[in-house]
Amino acid sequence: KKKIAIMTSGGDSQGMNAVVRSVVRTGIFYNCDVYAIYEGYEGLVNGNNSIKKMSWNDVRGFISFGGTLIGTARSNAFRTPEGRLKACYNMIINGIDALIVCGGDGSLTGADLFRHEWPSLCDKLIKQKRLSIDQVNPFRNLTIVGLVGSIDNDMSSTDSTIGAYSSLERICEMVDYIDATATSHSRAFVVEVMGRHCGWLALMAGIATGADFIFIPERPPNSKTWKDDLKEICLRHRQKGRRKTTVIVAEGAIDNQLNPISADEVKDALVELGLDTRITTLGHVQRGGSPVAFDRMLATFQGVEAVKAVLDSTPSTPSPMIGILENQIIRKPLVESVRLTKSVATAIENKEFDKAMSLRDTEFGE
Ligand code: F6P
Repeated sequence: KKKIAIMTSGGDSQGMNAVVRSVVRTGIFYNCDVYAIYEGYEGLVNGNNSIKKMSWNDVRGFISFGGTLIGTARSNAFRTPEGRLKACYNMIINGIDALIVCGGDGSLTGADLFRHEWPSLCDKLIKQKRLSIDQVNPFRNLTIVGLVGSIDNDMSSTDSTIGAYSSLERICEMVDYIDATATSHSRAFVVEVMGRHCGWLALMAGIATGADFIFIPERPPNSKTWKDDLKEICLRHRQKGRRKTTVIVAEGAIDNQLNPISADEVKDALVELGLDTRITTLGHVQRGGSPVAFDRMLATFQGVEAVKAVLDSTPSTPSPMIGILENQIIRKPLVESVRLTKSVATAIENKEFDKAMSLRDTEFGE
């Protein structure tokens, strides 16, 4: 009987619980034992009470909850060789040889490294007499499957990460609230949104709320002229009768010389224009609340696909990442998706902004 573990890792995102529910129930449907690993990699390293066999009823109601009910962590222990050795030990003594990880690119890279090291970790456990050859031999092959749970929508090879549309919905609700008071007072608001090095949340929120100006890392404005350009555009909108000014700034926003653009600098420019200006940093509300229907569906379909990928996997199959491209649930080699994701960051660091944008387009399925 196949024993599969599911874990959520890195920053939580809406839809992670729906993933856990889907994996648990699909696994049970296919006659597997399914385990939840609590607190992400930290739980895998600690073992004992962090690894729990799940029943059908254990995940009842999970589909609509925000956050992750099985916990998550940004684990330092798993970054060390000893931490990964302990994780390997805990998997084997619990009889688990397939791991489904739902997290961002860092968590998925960690998962792939774990698989890569697995044979040598097994040998080390035998050598150090922590486990016998007979205990280890049935678990020589580790299967890893990645699901991308992140609000940032920053992963290559998938049109959407699990949580991105819920977060976008939250941001739009908040900007709508802010708009009411902005219009009442004829004020300007600078809204800083999350996304780490990715501008997807800022760009889509700006479009969906009709913002005056949007700052994203992938399209950095000219370091010398952006303040004047911003002022000119906001002034033009005011002259057309707009009573409010809304500027969305991605937390990773930069200019074309790679200097960060802060909400404070944007505010200063608007104040110079004579606008009564406030800053709202939305912060972790963007990760809160229930998943929107799209994220529940995405999580459910991808959870099913992840279990199928586990059952199809052979020792020579590269670890797959489950994504969605042009409305199809797909499997892509995990390492390839991580490599493509990192190449966007490298292009930005090298000031190759058009290349970064076209790589992001690849990410959006073109
Ligand atoms: O990756 C998700 C995210 O919310 C980013 O948008 C943000 O930069 C980061 O995590 C915040 O991390 P933390 O919750 O550890 O402060």
